[in-house]
Amino acid sequence: MRIFRILYGMSLTFIVLCSAFGMLHARADENGVLIRYVGDETCEVCHSSASIGKQFQIWQRSPHARAYRDLGSTEAMTIARKMNIANPQKSPKCLSCHTTATGTHLPNLISTFRSKDGVQCESCHGPGEDYAHYSVMIDPVKSREAGLTIHPDEKTCKTCHNSSSPTFKGFDYQQALARISHPIPKKERMGHS
Ligand code: HEC
Ligand code: HEC
Ligand code: HEC
Ligand code: HEC
Repeated sequence: MRIFRILYGMSLTFIVLCSAFGMLHARADENGVLIRYVGDETCEVCHSSASIGKQFQIWQRSPHARAYRDLGSTEAMTIARKMNIANPQKSPKCLSCHTTATGTHLPNLISTFRSKDGVQCESCHGPGEDYAHYSVMIDPVKSREAGLTIHPDEKTCKTCHNSSSPTFKGFDYQQALARISHPIPKKERMGHS
């Protein structure tokens, strides 16, 4: 995939190429290099085994995995109606916090990334194209260089957990963190920090 970095810049050629290879989402890093969102299924491949701590299954059972789906609920419709929004599952005013990488759409073609999977791993850990490979993941330094946020913090949470949320009732970071906790079992660690 790195070869496509040569082609960076938002030219039409680039967009068409990305689309042809099924890359729906992209974000530029501070050097202007594009790193794409790969979607939760890519993380699932490695992060669903018991030895590593089943982060995928823990996430899948968490509210974040149903964040998009819940925009179709009666409660969501009631909130949306008051704000003159016809369909919360189509409105950027709701999708911005209930999905991953909202607003970074390239032409909507085949991709492993699915917006309907809600607030995915990459919402907190950063786009995975460059780090979601074994040789990178086992090395914290390489992982960080490839864009992995190893320790998402309170600030990360508050990009969504804030008073712009129509249902906001405050946010207790420690309590919230405990509810989504998905650690790597200590004995399995390969020396990560
Ligand atoms: C090819 C397998 C593989 C894939 C794919 C993969 N990971 Fe990993 N990941 C690992 C391994 C192995 C570790 C290291 C575990 C350890 O420290 O013992 C790891 C560690 C991590 C860590 C902790 C890093 C640290 O230093 O503590 C995070 C966070 C993480 N992965 C997130 C993700 C996310 C998000 C995705 C998908 C975008 C992903 N991984 C995809 C294998 C993978
Ligand atoms: C600023 C980010 C943000 C925006 C924008 C946002 N939400 Fe949310 N939404 C959240 C967060 C965070 C929660 C969970 C905690 C809370 O209520 O603050 C949530 C929870 C919800 C819930 C409750 C889910 C459940 O069943 O427990 C509904 C329904 C909902 N939002 C609908 C909407 C609708 C409809 C819109 C658009 C009009 C919207 N949200 C816009 C962040 C946001
Ligand atoms: C809502 C934000 C959020 C989402 C979504 C999320 N994580 Fe995390 N993740 C965190 C936080 C916060 C930590 C703890 C960071 C720390 O240790 O300081 C963490 C830690 C981790 C760790 C390291 C655990 C350890 O023991 O150090 C791995 C591995 C990981 N996440 C993988 C994933 C994978 C895979 C997904 C998706 C299936 C995912 N995360 C989804 C926020 C998130
Ligand atoms: C991209 C936006 C986003 C980020 C970043 C995010 N969340 Fe959330 N979170 C949501 C939404 C949206 C919901 C509501 C999902 C639903 O129920 O439909 C939610 C729900 C939750 C809930 C359940 C709240 C309840 O009252 O039921 C907890 C706990 C939570 N998040 C913890 C965290 C933590 C801890 C972090 C940071 C490490 C974090 N979140 C980061 C969007 C986000």
